[in-house]
Amino acid sequence: MKVVLCLMAVLGAVAAQEYSPHPKLKVQEKDSGDAPSWGYGGEGNPVNWYKDYLQCGGKRQSPVNLPYVGELLKAPNRGRPLVFHYYNALNPARLVQSSKNFDFVFTGSDEYAPVVSGVGFNPSDKYQFAGLHLHWGSVDSNGAEHTLDGHTFPGEMHFVHFNKKYGSVENAINQPDGLVVIGFFLEISSQSMPGLTKMAKGLHQMRATYQTELDLGDMSLLEFIKGYIYNWKYYYYQGSLTTPPCSESVQWHVFPVPVPISRADLEVLRQFPTVKENFSDNNRPIQNLNGRKITYDGLVVSRDKPWLPENFKHSPSNEVY
Ligand SMILES: *[C@@H]1O[C@H](CO)[C@@H](O)[C@H](O)[C@H]1NC(C)=O
Repeated sequence: MKVVLCLMAVLGAVAAQEYSPHPKLKVQEKDSGDAPSWGYGGEGNPVNWYKDYLQCGGKRQSPVNLPYVGELLKAPNRGRPLVFHYYNALNPARLVQSSKNFDFVFTGSDEYAPVVSGVGFNPSDKYQFAGLHLHWGSVDSNGAEHTLDGHTFPGEMHFVHFNKKYGSVENAINQPDGLVVIGFFLEISSQSMPGLTKMAKGLHQMRATYQTELDLGDMSLLEFIKGYIYNWKYYYYQGSLTTPPCSESVQWHVFPVPVPISRADLEVLRQFPTVKENFSDNNRPIQNLNGRKITYDGLVVSRDKPWLPENFKHSPSNEVY
């Protein structure tokens, strides 16, 4: 049986039959036979991923802890901004369930597909949007993949892009300049970004009707991050996919300012996909930096150990970001 990886998640056989993702999102496993199962608990937990997926034991894995940057947060921008094209374009959107998560993809033509440039080490290359997914916890104190100065968030949103010169995620996945992921933390707030609310409504409907796919109508990516990208500074480092096969082909760009999600929408995520099973706590633990450089606004800020005051707890009263 030919096994298809949906971005990062291995599909179960049932899902694979029903599954027809955007072709750009498909990632082909190199050999035949069932891909080994992996997950976040039990035998297939992240510590064991490397046994079946060698790259998961590599030296430039993700996520990592992003260090404290103090005054730099408020300083005027000095680094290069990311350039977003067609993030405001409306495209037909679809939610597609995978084995440990779901993907938000666009199903239309490439003409108005969102593209980002100005990235990492090859700012003139163009990276096309392939899919968006979230990681989230069953409780507020878990969920994000990266940590910010040792501090965790209840969720994280990943916009996955492939270098246009490779044509698809599948072809880009093993290239050093193959992928760009743009990450945003999620923080509980009274209101969600409108895109997250539409996503949650869709997931709720999928759960209620036992569907593994749902069309959401026309949407733009800006609905998820409007007001959170322009002029904001970001962390940058070279890492990997955070799920098997953990390919070390990702230029990470993580924004320090969290995007709001309502408790109601987060609860929908926590109950997805069924009453019997949910995908909460689908976040990989922090990986060693192994001497890698992390920059913030173009300045090197990496440190191997997180800086964290004793007994630091995240609460609105000591919120620094
Ligand atoms: C999610 O699944 C876990 C493990 O089965 C369970 O303990 C938890 O109650 C579930 N959460 C929700 C919101 O259904």
